[in-house]
Amino acid sequence: MCGIVGAIGNIAIAKYLLKGLQRLEYRGYDSAGIALMDKLGDIHVTKVAGKIANLIPLVDQSVEAVSGIGHTRWATHGPANTENAHPHLSASGRFAIVHNGVIDNYKELKERYLSDVEFLSDTDTEVVANLIDRFVSDNKEDELEGLRKALRLLEGSYALGIIDRKHPERLYAAKEKSPLLVGVADEGHIICSDAMAGISVTKAYLLIQDGDLAILTADDVRIENLSGEVVEREMQRFDEEDSDLDKGLYPYYMLKEIEEQPSVLRHITSLYQEGLEDLPQVLKELEKAETIYMVASGTSYHASCLAKRWFEQILNKRVEAHIASEFTYEMPVISQKPFFIFLSQSGETADSRHALVKVKAAGYPSLTITNVKGSTLAREASYSLPLLAGREVAVASTKAYIAQLAVMAYLVYALKGELPDLLKGLKQVEVAMERLLSQKEAIRDVVKENLLDTRNAFYIGRGLDYLTAMENALKLKEISYLQVESFAAGELKHGTIALIEDGTPVIAIVTQAHLAKQTRSNLEEVRARGGRSLTISSSDLALEGDTVVVDAVPMRLRPFLSVVVGQLIAYYTALEKGYNVDQPRNLAKSVTVE
Ligand code: AGP
Repeated sequence: MCGIVGAIGNIAIAKYLLKGLQRLEYRGYDSAGIALMDKLGDIHVTKVAGKIANLIPLVDQSVEAVSGIGHTRWATHGPANTENAHPHLSASGRFAIVHNGVIDNYKELKERYLSDVEFLSDTDTEVVANLIDRFVSDNKEDELEGLRKALRLLEGSYALGIIDRKHPERLYAAKEKSPLLVGVADEGHIICSDAMAGISVTKAYLLIQDGDLAILTADDVRIENLSGEVVEREMQRFDEEDSDLDKGLYPYYMLKEIEEQPSVLRHITSLYQEGLEDLPQVLKELEKAETIYMVASGTSYHASCLAKRWFEQILNKRVEAHIASEFTYEMPVISQKPFFIFLSQSGETADSRHALVKVKAAGYPSLTITNVKGSTLAREASYSLPLLAGREVAVASTKAYIAQLAVMAYLVYALKGELPDLLKGLKQVEVAMERLLSQKEAIRDVVKENLLDTRNAFYIGRGLDYLTAMENALKLKEISYLQVESFAAGELKHGTIALIEDGTPVIAIVTQAHLAKQTRSNLEEVRARGGRSLTISSSDLALEGDTVVVDAVPMRLRPFLSVVVGQLIAYYTALEKGYNVDQPRNLAKSVTVE
């Protein structure tokens, strides 16, 4: 999952490319590069391993660019070095391209059509650049058909930005499964993987579709399918302000987004009460479904597991929660009258999107709940509902998770006819969360005393606390690089307790009254073996010596608070270790490859 940008026209090209890439760095930051086209048709490529900050000083700002493309990379083929960084030039130097996605058949294409070409990198992208060069150069009477022919041969996923020194007046963009938008501005046109990268230039975007080829000039945009027929695409406005995307006085986006969570809850409850386009029909679909299938990845999968429990406990509704990458290739037995829910912050996760393609092919109804309107999953499901969390930039998802819980709780309680109870409970959660956040430095002390001298740790819990333990473990491991496992507290003694050594931190979550005694007993078993026990508890269940105590809100809503403790534990552990909290190693915010 990389980020790509491009621009053509009377726009400050280099400035837009570099700022746009900084806005997209969350999508991958192994290497970065830009290619500038000047009016003579010369292409100036600058690229470097590492972050965009390494690239900026190397760019020749004196180039009077008429167009350009840029890329920030999350490595899929070949190591994160300068040779593999994008943009890639074709061997003749005629084309420069940037690519987000994976070309599954690049080796076959290389052998069949490009055996005479000397390659400089290990990437599938360089194969695409040379395939385009080959077919366009062989198709002199209709170069665009040559470009379409090359694209038709590609199998897999791509979002491409392409510049051609023989046509400096053009910028090409093509899309298949990977996200790409075409921005329309007065001064020219842009492309970007995410509107966040472009809203400093324009808020109006054409939602190009899979199989589209867009031909952009300074004054015009033409979109064709790969048969060469012109197609019309929907225009979408994104209303965020570029300034909203800054982290302000916060040291990291993650802390800003953790602290925004109470207001996210307020925003969701008020806008959902006002009513949303698909909401009434979604409630009807949920009502009549015999089984609800929730399909997601990572943090969104954890939110799905918790929502499943609420559906079961509050509505006695049968729900299954599935990991998207598993579901797609080994679909479970699907009941009569199924209904599918896809939770996804980005709306672009390839694993989830692939599952949705199969669900749609089977003719099943589906709902996407996502934080990015106009995203692929939002557009391709039968229905979509917004998370309303505001842009989430930190790779570790926090406010989107809270928003997923809030939206799912809203649906469940609305179906139960008990929305007033939920709204009252969420009001208590907001107040308790604000209080917890005001005491966040106490959690920093807990981290300093217990988590900086260890390579591993455990989260344990039962029931809803176990599901929160799953999310808290992911948060901690993905930004602090500790080996952290979540475990059903009662299951630990069936083998995994063998891993407990002197000082191994085990964090128990104790917020569910009917399970508190059992979880504490499991924690005793850990202590008896030298483990270092920490406890996150609700005040009505707290015992002397508990590590972090949160206010007692309605039992089923307590995960809203215990997960924030886990977010802060993760944040401070990474901070104290000196790691980049927002951009942890090996990760990216939107995983648009399988
Ligand atoms: C969350 O902290 C992780 N970065 C990751 O697990 C994420 O939740 C997962 O990739 C799913 O992303 P999505 O919600 O955008 O589909």
